[in-house]
Amino acid sequence: MTVSSAPGKVYLFGEHAVVYGEPAVPCAIERRATVAVESRDDDRLRVHLSDLSIDGFTVEYSGSTDETPDVNVSESLVQAGIGYIDAAIEQARDATERPDAGFDITVESDIPLGAGLGSSAAVTVAAIDAATRELGVSLSSDEIADRAYRAELAVQDGEASRADTFCSATGGAVRVEGDDCRAIESPDLPIVVGFDGGAGDTGKLVAGVRALREEYEFAGETVKSIGDIVRQGERALTEGDTEELGRLMNFNHGLLEALGVSSRSLDNMVWAARDAGALGAKLTGAGGGGCIVALDPTDETETALRFTPGCEDAFRAELDTEGVREE
Ligand code: MEV
Repeated sequence: MTVSSAPGKVYLFGEHAVVYGEPAVPCAIERRATVAVESRDDDRLRVHLSDLSIDGFTVEYSGSTDETPDVNVSESLVQAGIGYIDAAIEQARDATERPDAGFDITVESDIPLGAGLGSSAAVTVAAIDAATRELGVSLSSDEIADRAYRAELAVQDGEASRADTFCSATGGAVRVEGDDCRAIESPDLPIVVGFDGGAGDTGKLVAGVRALREEYEFAGETVKSIGDIVRQGERALTEGDTEELGRLMNFNHGLLEALGVSSRSLDNMVWAARDAGALGAKLTGAGGGGCIVALDPTDETETALRFTPGCEDAFRAELDTEGVREE
């Protein structure tokens, strides 16, 4: 059996705009998806998913991925999870030139699914690493990131940036602009995450922003303004200026809200964090529901979020400097 894990992430800046070639700065956090893979004698896949939310629940899915799984919770989310695993295994088969390889796969994750913390990228990255190593092939983290990006493109109907998958494969803070992906220096950041217990549909949210951009010129300008915020934010990050980072995160959230990807519970959590004295707060990831990220060196934001209607969980998240790794 071969086991790999990969981290989730928060976006300090730039989600959605990154799809249109603007830069983005995601940061890996110490919450991981772990994928265990064992070769089979046939070409089938048997997938067991467990602990796929912060509270933890177990879903068993057995059989080849073209069969309907028997699930009793969040079926669409589980289907989405299986879609990413399927696409990751296709990439592993291609990389190892073993198109008929079959596997028993177990996925465990402490990253909530579809909530803006990069669960699908982490599962995809860890699955490609584990499945290729199980077949005796070791890929570099850049190759894994590239293949995971292609897997995400396949699942998300051609709508994905390299940001989530590169960040999960590499770890740390990264900067992504089109095909240019690189690690950047980051000080330790006082990251607090608030989770509303929900999830957003990345494909639909990305399509919504695309439609706005096509209809209104100022929506296109909004996307470009997010790019400007990212460039300023990068400078603040390099200088370790967390107060400026917070201000820019607030700006970024406002523009994401204008693009229609926030939600009442995300806005409630953002305002609760700001009222509690956070340096800044914004939604993270595709939006629609899921998580916010705030910066606060004190315990105030975490405590306030716990009492905020619509917030199901709040926790501090350390920057994870390690990307995909063998377990
Ligand atoms: C989703 O985590 C981030 C988006 O920018 C989509 C992407 O970059 O692929 C909304």
